[in-house]
This record gives sequence, structure tokens and C-alpha cells, in this order.
Amino acid sequence: MIAPRKILTDEMVAKIEALAPRYPNRRALTLPALHVVNAELRHVPLEAVAEIAALLGLAPAEVQDTLSFYQFFHQARPHGKVRAFVCRSVSCALRGGDELLARLCRDHGIEPYGTTPDGELTIEPAECLGACDFAPCILANDDLLKNMTPEAAAAELRKPRARAT
Ligand code: FES
Repeated sequence: MIAPRKILTDEMVAKIEALAPRYPNRRALTLPALHVVNAELRHVPLEAVAEIAALLGLAPAEVQDTLSFYQFFHQARPHGKVRAFVCRSVSCALRGGDELLARLCRDHGIEPYGTTPDGELTIEPAECLGACDFAPCILANDDLLKNMTPEAAAAELRKPRARAT
């Protein structure tokens, strides 16, 4: 018997099922399903992993394997409403990316990967964002912030921002 769902809403399940025709089998829906849940909850708790597995006809360990392969998904608690990925790859590092990351974390009183106590902001190091011409840069939800200084980044991260898609 499949346990009743507690985390996945009917809306999440409908979104996942709507994606199914794009994929060759249910297993291939694993990553899109994780993204659907993450977009709603800003993390993917263990219970959701079990529910995704039941929905897709997989073992929970298979879904957890996919989740844990990527650093993208938080599991223990939600990431902030704004998730700021600060690039630390070579072009950005040469133009102050490491200092930018350290300064933003210090100013917000958190460590890298941490979330502010009000749940508004998570700051994470990231690998190349594909915008090396604009180093150093930050991806804040879906917005690429170019040529950042600590001051410009602080101002940008205070602005209201659409949720990540
Ligand atoms: S190195 Fe930072 S965007 Fe490429």
C-alpha cells in the first residue's frame, strides 16, 4: 500500500504529471519533480523524496541519489526567498569574487550556504555562471547581477525580487 501524500500537493503532482510527456520514462522525471517541489518549498525534505519515489514508481534511494548528486537542493531547511549564488570561478575570483562573497556573508551575519534568520536571503558560492565578461557576478534567483562591487551587491540584494523559476 502506498502511504498518503503529506508534502506533495495536488498542484505539485499535476505540474509533475504535466511534464511527463516530455520524458521517455518515469525515472527521467526525477530531476524535474525535484525542481517542482523545490520551487514550491525552497527545499526538498526527506518525506518529499519518498513521495516523489512513490509517484514515479522508484525506490526512495534512487530519488535521494539524484538529489544528493546536486548541491542545488537543500534538504534540512528551506533556502532564503532570495538565493544569491556568488561566482567563485577564475574570472570572478580574479576580479574580487572571493572578497565579494566574504563581505556579503559578513554583512549579513551568515556563513556561505547560510540563510539569514528572517529567511529572506541565502548566500552560496557558485561555479562559473557563464557570464565571465561581467565578473564578478551573482545570480540572485533568476537575475544575473553583473560587475558587482560589495556596495552594488548589497543594494541589489535589498531589492524585491521574483521567486526563482
Ligand atoms: S568565472 Fe564567474 S561567471 Fe565565469
